[in-house]
Amino acid sequence: MPLPAKAELGQGRLTVDRRCVISLDASAEPRVRKAAIRFCELLSRQTGMPIQPSFATGAERAFLQIQYGAPGEQVQSVKANESYTLEVTDAGARLKAAEPLGVLRGLETLLQLVQMDAGGTAIPAVRIDDRPRFPWRGLLIDAARHWMPVEVILRNLDAMAAVKLNVLHWHLSDDQGFRVECRTFPNLHGMGSDGSYYTREQIREVLAYARDLGIRVMPEFDMPGHTTAWFVGHPELASGPGPYQIERKWGIFDPAMDPAREAVYEFLDRFVAEMAALFDDEYFHIGGDEVNGKQWNANPAIQAFKREKGMKNNHDLQAYFNQRLLKIVQKHGKKMIGWDEILHPTLPKDSVIHSWRGQKSLAQASGQGYLGILSSGYYLDHMLPTSQHYAVDPLGKECADLSEEQKARIMGGEACMWAEFVTPETIDSRIWPRMAAIAERFWSPANVVDVEDMYRRLDAASIRLGRLVTHRSNLPPMLERLADGSETEPLETLLSVLEPLKYYDRPDAREYTSFTPLNRAVDAARPESLTARRFANLVASVLTDASAADAAQARRLLSLWRDNHALLKPVIARAPMLKEVEGHSENLAALAEIGLEALDCVVSKRSPAPGWPARAKTVIERARKPQAELLNMLAAPVQKLAAAAR
Ligand code: ACM
Repeated sequence: MPLPAKAELGQGRLTVDRRCVISLDASAEPRVRKAAIRFCELLSRQTGMPIQPSFATGAERAFLQIQYGAPGEQVQSVKANESYTLEVTDAGARLKAAEPLGVLRGLETLLQLVQMDAGGTAIPAVRIDDRPRFPWRGLLIDAARHWMPVEVILRNLDAMAAVKLNVLHWHLSDDQGFRVECRTFPNLHGMGSDGSYYTREQIREVLAYARDLGIRVMPEFDMPGHTTAWFVGHPELASGPGPYQIERKWGIFDPAMDPAREAVYEFLDRFVAEMAALFDDEYFHIGGDEVNGKQWNANPAIQAFKREKGMKNNHDLQAYFNQRLLKIVQKHGKKMIGWDEILHPTLPKDSVIHSWRGQKSLAQASGQGYLGILSSGYYLDHMLPTSQHYAVDPLGKECADLSEEQKARIMGGEACMWAEFVTPETIDSRIWPRMAAIAERFWSPANVVDVEDMYRRLDAASIRLGRLVTHRSNLPPMLERLADGSETEPLETLLSVLEPLKYYDRPDAREYTSFTPLNRAVDAARPESLTARRFANLVASVLTDASAADAAQARRLLSLWRDNHALLKPVIARAPMLKEVEGHSENLAALAEIGLEALDCVVSKRSPAPGWPARAKTVIERARKPQAELLNMLAAPVQKLAAAAR
């Protein structure tokens, strides 16, 4: 995962053993050699075998031969060639690419091919001819809402590389924090970050690490809205009088830069100069989203400025700001990209539109001649099932009427990990493994759409990714904390069928601030219950094929859930943080009992007792109600069983 463009299995297999001879030209780029060493390290981790790389030039009997045609770009661009071919026979593996980037991608594929079975550790003979469908395949990490230390970024870069993503979109400033050391205006990070910001050295470390993995790093400094944290140290940039404090709540706020003041552009010129030199990517993201215009409307000088310039509304005013900013960004050698609100008839065509409000805006932008990328449909913070994201295509039906030339302007997409409800402890579990399926959407051919096959491969990808990121390993300590010293198994059983509220229902459920601990059951629960998904599949198979084996498996699961409350109840009694899930635990037992009776009726083709349907309805309806910001994902499949039983 992602599935290669073309793969053909051959005959035989290549044995993996301790000594890994890699044939590589002495003149190879340092990052290719590093990638080969990393390959051996990852292979060691994967197999548990200590695998030693040894390099040889032109070795006849190398385990792995690496060849590439041209040196890579000094700074990786969106035009880089990532294609590669991989040929594995029982004599060795041969990896060929046009550029170093293709070598990196091919090594990740090779790692995924390694099998451990009765025959030993080996790679099946195969011929792969692979290239990405889209050149822009990204993940946005928001380091502003909750601070994300460098280690979080580095490990997520590792996982991104494993699924061939190539852009880290680093959301570095927002109302709740300004997260980069700024030499020119030290009050930006000094007063706008609570001391949690990346130093210039750390930024350089991340860029170098990402480059070695073939990942571009694009910074975002969101302007002119989402800027409260800037104004704590620089109230003179704002459209309202201030004073300002770092925002502690979530949402859309009034503070916005003053587009009518020359001093703002002079400031931004010096600011962008420093950041454009620090970040080497050709793109500079200026945000541009969610300006509510309240500060502009309340400021007489800004209103006078609008009248004087003949501007009809605040969108015109923001377009003026964007044009000024574009000139600054270009002066410092960068291309400008912004959220789809920046789309305006006066926006020069060399800006890139980043669509978050819907695929229509992307189709519209590319129709008008802009380059674009898609994030609408890929918001990881919405807590949606993998299949829903997987079904979203950057060239979806909204693009049906575009010409080939217009379609080619859609460069790809990015998944967004907004950080209102994640911490360094939980963020990986909200990104992974779902991100792997989105990465496949961006890399693999458009006709790779088999959902069941995707989930089958996602299970394997999740285990593999678990060696790089913490989406699996963070769970036991969270459960231990919640259970407060009691055994965690019954809690894990309950949480395995619950999911956090979707979209923006969680912030609507209660008042949250950046100080609210994210250590509850809802934070430990996974965005998608794969257990509930598997159970729903079992139910479908029982109802359509009358599969006896699946009925037996469904009965085992339902019995486990029916009996779980008796085990969890004493744990809850001792662990105050679990009080809020007691209702869910009771409901699960009741729901499982309904499921067992329904299953029995279906399998033995008998009718339920009179009065049972009414009771089933009550239990299912109760289970459906969210509690503690969690949803019971078994309510729907049990409902199906109950309906069949009636
Ligand atoms: C956004 O979600 N406001 C880009």
